[in-house]
Amino acid sequence: MCGIIGYIGKTPEKVLFDGLKKLEYRGYDCAGMTILRAGKFTTYKSIGKVDSLKEKLFFNDSLGVGIAHTRWATHGKVSIENCHPHFNNDLSICLVHNGIIENFHVLKDDLVKRGKSFYGETDSEVVAKMFEHGLTIKKVKSVVDNLTGSYALLMLDKTCNDIYFAKNKNPLYIAFDDEKVMLTSDSSCFNDIFDSFITLEDGQYGKVSLNELEIYQDDKKIDRPKVTKCFKSKAIGLGKYSHFMLKEIGETKSVLRKAIKFYNARGIKNIFKNLPCGFEKVVLIGCGSAYNAGLIAKGYFIDAGLNSECILASEIEYESHDINEKSLCIFISQSGETQDTLKAMDFCVKRKAYCLSLTNVVHSSIARKSHFNIDLSAGCERAVASTKAYTAQVFHLYILAFLLKNRNSQIEDLVKEIKEYIDFENIEAKNIEHFAKKYLKSRLLFFIGKGKDSILAREGALKLKEISYLPAFDLPSGELKHGSIALIDKFATCIAICSQAKTLSKIASSAEEIRARGGKVILFSSVDAGELEDCFDDVLYLKSSGKFDIVNLIIAMQKFAYFVAIKRGCNPDMPRNLAKSVTVE
Ligand code: AGP
Repeated sequence: MCGIIGYIGKTPEKVLFDGLKKLEYRGYDCAGMTILRAGKFTTYKSIGKVDSLKEKLFFNDSLGVGIAHTRWATHGKVSIENCHPHFNNDLSICLVHNGIIENFHVLKDDLVKRGKSFYGETDSEVVAKMFEHGLTIKKVKSVVDNLTGSYALLMLDKTCNDIYFAKNKNPLYIAFDDEKVMLTSDSSCFNDIFDSFITLEDGQYGKVSLNELEIYQDDKKIDRPKVTKCFKSKAIGLGKYSHFMLKEIGETKSVLRKAIKFYNARGIKNIFKNLPCGFEKVVLIGCGSAYNAGLIAKGYFIDAGLNSECILASEIEYESHDINEKSLCIFISQSGETQDTLKAMDFCVKRKAYCLSLTNVVHSSIARKSHFNIDLSAGCERAVASTKAYTAQVFHLYILAFLLKNRNSQIEDLVKEIKEYIDFENIEAKNIEHFAKKYLKSRLLFFIGKGKDSILAREGALKLKEISYLPAFDLPSGELKHGSIALIDKFATCIAICSQAKTLSKIASSAEEIRARGGKVILFSSVDAGELEDCFDDVLYLKSSGKFDIVNLIIAMQKFAYFVAIKRGCNPDMPRNLAKSVTVE
């Protein structure tokens, strides 16, 4: 993953530090910065979150050139040696890199044979060592021509005040005006600083100074790169909340209301008027929570009479399926930058499928590359665990399935049908917090359900393990007795999900089997358990209203994971080993 940023202008240390803070969601194992002034490099590096770099920085208001990096470790441990920027052998050139160089072993062996020495273990340092001295566009091109893999690269040469760059499969944007230049992995870094920016495409490389920008592709200069307007950003603070995760869960309801308002105002037929008809199959594709949203939506498309399947983006090349020109492939991604999902899109484009994306970042690579993008408009999601964006994905897919079934129906029909679904009661956080505390000592937590509830269970388990580091798994309740029941003892706690009256008795039987072996069972239910309540150790009732009642269950599971993490002393916004945007395969 990693986030990179480069800057030419006044107060470079401050601008780059502020930029790194915005990029921190892309990785927070370590951070580094190199500033060039009067032909001299000054480098700062620090282990841990971006804030740890601040105390080391010597802030200077004068003009300077700099590059900076926040790391999510891929190759090599978290150490100062492996922290970017990386230098060539005579220390005249340095670079920051986002991506993975797949052939770095071969390149490194060759460099070692040629007498180059290495101080660290990263693939990025290998790229730095491929440069001698004297950076030119030609040299950048000849180095990147030898790279296999993904990269967004920013490079500095001691002898000039330009920033050189190259991009393949990892995002890179440029903005400039008369006084300053910025290059970064995320265009939101430009907000409130620049009016517009340029999005670099794969295979492009070049250099930029205060006076000039040169972009090349296949040895030819690009004359008029497309310019996009920057947003005015709203300051995103925590408000009354202690963590972004809790704040973002709390925003779910307003996100869904906003979506309804949008569909209502624009008219569903208008919004989708350019979407072709006649698809023979819907293929939902995503990773992690986005994939889980796809699994839920698969049921909506099947109910709408459409042949549908859901595929993990990282598995698409290895599974059997018949994606072709009659397929509607739906790419689900909060960040719009997930490398596995982007790669899956290339796979589907090659098979001539129609690509529709569902992203929360309108300028993201996935949104740009698709034929049609649906903007989730869930607002910035800062916490690593996806919450409001996941629920918004499920919701927009519900609407899309409705549209594909009823191409000629009016928006009013839809609004009438769904309004009640999101008019749900607020969930009593205190109860959930109480359960989190009560079952905190469990050594194993697992989620069960039947039908669509088993898919919700999957998301519940993912949320819990990613932020609390507790071993958690999920399975359809009927599967327990076929193996996993062997894990159960008095240290195991099960969260049973039930949104369908018809499954309650089956869930209750599984609960009895678990409790007979010493395990505890909490029921999260939107249906009244009646006498079956006795089969569970605790019951959390969630108000039900219509088909979209899963919203309540989703929120309850997200809050449960949140409170378990807090009580275990974990930071739910920045869990260990993870990053918000997964831009490596
Ligand atoms: C969600 O809580 C996870 N952090 C993760 O599974 C995420 O959903 C996945 O990496 C996909 O990200 P995307 O939606 O940005 O593509």
